[in-house]
Amino acid sequence: MKNIAQSPWWVKTTIYQIYPRSFKDSNQDGIGDLKGIISKLDYIKDLGFETIWLSPFFTSPQRDGGYDISHFLEIAPEYGQMADVDQLIDQVHQKGMRVIFDLVLNHTSDQHPWFRESRSSKDNSKRDWYIWRDGRGKRPPNNWRSIVGGSGWHYDPPTGQWYYASFLPFQPDLNYRNPEVIKTMLGIAKYWLDKGVDGFRLDIFHTLFKDAQFRDNPCSTTLFSTDFQAGYFQNYVYNHNQPETIQFALQLRRLADSYLNPRLLLGEVFAKDVTLKKYLGTDMDGLNLVFLWNLIHGKADATHLREVLHHFETHYTLPYTPVLVFGNHDVQRLITRIGSDPKLAALLAVFQLTARGVPVVYYGDEIGMEEMNLSKKDWKDPVGQRFRWVPGMVFKALKLSATRDGCRTPMQWGPEVNAGFTIPGIHPWMPVNAHSSIVNVSSQADRPLSLLNTYRKLLKIRREHAALHLGRLELIEFDQANPQLLAYRRQAGDEILLVLINFGPARCTFGLENEHPHIIFQIGKVTLEGSKTLHLEPQSAAILAK
Ligand code: NOJ
Repeated sequence: MKNIAQSPWWVKTTIYQIYPRSFKDSNQDGIGDLKGIISKLDYIKDLGFETIWLSPFFTSPQRDGGYDISHFLEIAPEYGQMADVDQLIDQVHQKGMRVIFDLVLNHTSDQHPWFRESRSSKDNSKRDWYIWRDGRGKRPPNNWRSIVGGSGWHYDPPTGQWYYASFLPFQPDLNYRNPEVIKTMLGIAKYWLDKGVDGFRLDIFHTLFKDAQFRDNPCSTTLFSTDFQAGYFQNYVYNHNQPETIQFALQLRRLADSYLNPRLLLGEVFAKDVTLKKYLGTDMDGLNLVFLWNLIHGKADATHLREVLHHFETHYTLPYTPVLVFGNHDVQRLITRIGSDPKLAALLAVFQLTARGVPVVYYGDEIGMEEMNLSKKDWKDPVGQRFRWVPGMVFKALKLSATRDGCRTPMQWGPEVNAGFTIPGIHPWMPVNAHSSIVNVSSQADRPLSLLNTYRKLLKIRREHAALHLGRLELIEFDQANPQLLAYRRQAGDEILLVLINFGPARCTFGLENEHPHIIFQIGKVTLEGSKTLHLEPQSAAILAK
């Protein structure tokens, strides 16, 4: 096996996700922008993240937070100009960090000139850039459902045909069976790579190709997907995860690898592990990484996390690298999901930054920003709008947020009005969370034990120890006496670190055998008795070195 010390940068990196609209407003229009992000690069650098992922900032009607693009090579004016993008890439690199953009390959906005042309007539030269079919009488061409529910097909009266949209009706899918589409979209990727961007997060990559024969999906008994194979009572056999999409992953990788400095392709792919691994390539020649969703769903306790680690170490052993993600712009804020418990959030940070894999942290989670409970009049998310009629208690019972807006509120930099996101007196595009007067960067910066400083310390330790950023992981067996203790070793070469996290309400005692303990990090009360016994009080954690 290759010397792991020579692993590419993306195996060892840590990623910080920014939702540009909500990070920092530099020109007082109430909307975050690129200059605002540039002004906060030192914050990210000091905190210790190595790579930044930016959600889309391209020209867009903003009906789906910029995931509805109407020009792929232009910047939406509210975010800035191309010169700001150039400056951003340059400054990130000067500070020794990397930046990846969000590449939305699957669809465009229905306001994109390509789609306007495409829908204008059946013989327009862009007609075949999108997926158009005749209906079955008055019914859609087949039974495929969109990701958000309901038929993915939409009737378009001017030409009497239906177009397909994997997500929302105003996001028509491009037709990847048209070579011109492939060429154009690869050209877009190349444009940004030539500019020096370090890679892409690939939006709903698993939906690019559809079955060439448009066969009906078979029925299933599943309403809400648990394994991403089925949902809305059908198996996604013919509209998701087609073999051609996997081939396209390899093609995109060849483009990314044609640059001197390797670039990162991080796929948002929803599939079973066996399929996910196909995207990574049989020879690791596909997407570099794919998100694994196991931490977003499931409990924040030792039992679940042990299961997840066991799963990762079974299915994604080296040379695979798992991606460790607890939150993003589509799901309820992490701290809210775990009962607003900052101590538990700190324990999860220990886990995320010491387990094997690439951690991806959503802006604000490092200070414990809460999901905001917005009144319906403030909802902007089109998915929220779609489910507006569903009573709140249904979502509560399903432990889901009714709208994705609550996790997209402005970053909380300080205690002042508008939390330092924009100046007081300006109306931010989305309300600032009321708890920002208490939960904010400046109030945590000087408190050594704050969540923010916990992240900072952990990121530093992770960078300094090869065992953490590229070592292998050995899960220590479940101990019936300490059911809420999660324990694992990380090892690279001679370096062996031991990570112990006590999630429970009871004290745990751990026998150290011959490990010559030296505590390099701790949360809560951890005490050594002699050199062989370690006591971990409730909700505490320790990293030990030889
Ligand atoms: C996944 C993105 O994360 C989400 O925010 C977006 O709405 C859909 N893809 C459609 O692009």
